[in-house]
Amino acid sequence: MPLTIRPYHPSDLGAIYRICLLTGEAGGDSSHLYRNPDLLAHLYAGPYPVADPGSTFVAADEQGVVGYIVATADSAEFERWREEYWWPVLRTQYPPVDDPGDGSQDHVLIARFHETWPTDEPYFAEFPAHMHIDLLPRAQGQGLGRRLVETLAAALRERGVPGLHLGVSSNNPGAIAFYGRVGFRLIEETPWGRMLGLGLT
Ligand SMILES: CC(C)(COP(=O)(O)OP(=O)(O)OC[C@H]1O[C@@H](n2cnc3c(N)ncnc32)[C@H](O)[C@@H]1OP(=O)(O)O)[C@@H](O)C(=O)NCCC(=O)NCCS
Repeated sequence: MPLTIRPYHPSDLGAIYRICLLTGEAGGDSSHLYRNPDLLAHLYAGPYPVADPGSTFVAADEQGVVGYIVATADSAEFERWREEYWWPVLRTQYPPVDDPGDGSQDHVLIARFHETWPTDEPYFAEFPAHMHIDLLPRAQGQGLGRRLVETLAAALRERGVPGLHLGVSSNNPGAIAFYGRVGFRLIEETPWGRMLGLGLT
């Protein structure tokens, strides 16, 4: 089976969680940072296909799913959805915990579960959609990232969405270069990196 991009299917969720962990430290394997391997994807991957399955696409070969792009068409609505349906169970399951001092970073992710996420950023009007993309190392550098962004952009355009944004850490210069090559432009610098936007009209 050649490398194929296709719409998300619920059976892809496990692979999405694994790939999120394997690419979660500035694009590299983050497994050593977390005792609980699911926390990172609870934050950055899982809720997107559950809330808005039509905005997730996966790339797969004969061995299985090798990468994904997850997104929401409407970030404000997505944050309202997370507040109502996603966070309450996770906040009960994972109460805030102190840093155990052993280098593990679970407490940092858990603290984020308990934040109030903004529903009204100034750039939401121009770029209401937002996304995350991750490919396993064996799928990188072959044009697949560009194809996934183009696939998502086409799907969002069909729904009349005018723009797409994302956040990228300054620790991930490879991803910053990639986003520039596929058309994203700087929206604003942040303490941790950059917000980038891609117009779709
Ligand atoms: C970042 C990522 C999505 C890019 O996907 P990819 O399939 O490797 O990139 P492509 O092959 O489609 O490259 C598209 C363009 O970006 C450029 N590019 C991609 N990765 C790059 C890098 N690390 N450094 C410089 N340029 C890069 C390519 O040269 C290409 O340019 P061109 O089309 O103008 O010749 C992928 O490498 C990845 O998943 N990395 C690990 C996880 C990650 O960092 N995710 C982003 C978190 S914010």
